[in-house]
Amino acid sequence: MKKRILTGITTTGTPHIGNYLGAIKPALELANDFDESFFFLADYHAIIKNSNNNEIAESVKSIALAWLASGLDSKKSFFYRQSDVPEILELSWILNCVTAKGLMNRSHAYKAATALNSSDEDKGITMGLFSYPVLMAADILLFNATHVPVGADQIQHIEMTRDIAGRFNHLYKKTFELPEAVIQASQKIITGTDGRKMSKSYGNIIPLLSTEKVLKKSIAKIVTNSLEPGVPKDSADCSVFSLYSSFASKEEIKEFEQEYANGISWGDAKGKLFDAINHEITPVRERYNNLLSDTDLINDQLSDGSKKVREIAKEMLDSIRQSIGISSIR
Ligand code: TRP
Repeated sequence: MKKRILTGITTTGTPHIGNYLGAIKPALELANDFDESFFFLADYHAIIKNSNNNEIAESVKSIALAWLASGLDSKKSFFYRQSDVPEILELSWILNCVTAKGLMNRSHAYKAATALNSSDEDKGITMGLFSYPVLMAADILLFNATHVPVGADQIQHIEMTRDIAGRFNHLYKKTFELPEAVIQASQKIITGTDGRKMSKSYGNIIPLLSTEKVLKKSIAKIVTNSLEPGVPKDSADCSVFSLYSSFASKEEIKEFEQEYANGISWGDAKGKLFDAINHEITPVRERYNNLLSDTDLINDQLSDGSKKVREIAKEMLDSIRQSIGISSIR
């Protein structure tokens, strides 16, 4: 059996250093160990959270650019937009019909949304939000992905995907592999400028695709204590240090720790952090700048990608339709 990895990024917001370190970079590295890799832009997931059409369109572009600039080779991987593959939505409906409502009721994301409501617990809850895990299951199962690299917050969605796949296999015939979540052991939470997890919703991001100037400015905003230069500083609970350690070697981290003990100034510490991040993302920024104006190239890559995956998708869906009795009349 082929080992296939698959992962998607929801197209809301601007890609930041947290997406790069936590999702894009590890997925691209993992791809080397697999027979086939599928990377896609989850734009139909995006409209669940965001109804601003301009923001969605902008985000699709910048997240596509982030993947490509980070080194995704669309000749070696399948790279596509969810909305270009209508078979995903078709499968999503079919899976809706075998998914227990009770399973969806247990979704953390759904429960968190209803918990915000008081008298009417369904206020503001769309069917899209409620059945989000079914669409995600369709993304994964249509290609029989064996491994799905995701952040820890997505583990429940992979478990639900396995439940849904098992239910379908049981009701009809063995069709789907049960996918496994791949959570990198080294994957730690990437801190934002305010010390919390880097996230668009906290407004604490360091953008991935920015100029050196903007990168410097974002780093300058990182909140520190007000200890003077020369006063020893604690590296343990420090956003500057924590971010630095995501970009530096073991030796460099040790050295930086020593400089904290010796009382490095915050200005100098941030300067070192800037150098480390900038060193790593300079090639990403260069590729990004080259691609930015070449929208035809991005569109071509995505359209080639969807053509390639649709061949696989159509074959799979034909066989699923046969199984469920949606076929030509005999
Ligand atoms: N739900 C994922 C997230 O928000 C994105 C996603 C959509 C995804 N479909 C997927 C991830 C399929 C992995 C596989 O992070």
